[in-house]
Amino acid sequence: MLPTFDLQPDRIPRHVAMIMDGNGRWAKSRGRIRLQGHRAGADTVARVLDYCADYGVQYLTLYAFSTENWSRPKAEVDGLMRLLGSFLEDKEAELVEKRCRFRAIGRRGDLPERLQRLIARVEERTCEFERQLVVCLSYGGRAEIVDAANRIAADARAGRIGTDPIDEKAFTSYLYAPDVPDPDLIIRTSGEFRLSNFLLWEAAYSELYVTPVLWPDFGEEDFVAALRDYAARDRRFGGVASAGAAGKGGQTC
Ligand code: FPP
Repeated sequence: MLPTFDLQPDRIPRHVAMIMDGNGRWAKSRGRIRLQGHRAGADTVARVLDYCADYGVQYLTLYAFSTENWSRPKAEVDGLMRLLGSFLEDKEAELVEKRCRFRAIGRRGDLPERLQRLIARVEERTCEFERQLVVCLSYGGRAEIVDAANRIAADARAGRIGTDPIDEKAFTSYLYAPDVPDPDLIIRTSGEFRLSNFLLWEAAYSELYVTPVLWPDFGEEDFVAALRDYAARDRRFGGVASAGAAGKGGQTC
């Protein structure tokens, strides 16, 4: 671990979500095929999981494959599916040993059946652990909202819910992982300033951090730099600054 005497435990984000961007550019800059960039990206995932354990981040959510990523060349999509499967097979025992719950969110029925079975097995074996790795697969923020709306409509048609208006809390309960707290910090690598359909509902009050570092190069110093930046933020959630908040004070947002 790097020295972090300046980082108070109550300033560590409980939930960090990451947009792992730049694998393709990383590969291209080395004259390699895109899939090699994704393979190097999988090694970064393993390291980041360790950083979260070391620095006390309880939930890590990773944007691994979006609903839009199906439009990539078949060889890349197939390669990514195989990579996700081998990552999960490799890490299964370690997730159990390190007491980390694994779960996948998204339109899981779109995934190859073998991968679906593997996901179900690892979820089952880790379901009692508190620390969590949430991997977004065939995931889209809009798709998640649409899926929630359709499930609410189905429950209403079947008489499972009453006719009272749906509020935010009730709506949230229909999302893919309603028990996971909203991300405190969203990190995007490779310098692009956009959400790209990631956690659109959950990101309402997340702090955003963009680094130019490409995902396969993202290391411990980059992770700690993001934590430091987050620790200096003044989160107001639309209210006024808290008395103990670091940084600026006083104004409403
Ligand atoms: C975006 O970079 C990255 C992806 C679409 C795939 C992310 C997948 C991994 C990191 C592999 C393994 C994941 C897990 C959870 C084991 P890009 O390909 O769009 O990069 P570019 O913008 O430079 O082309």
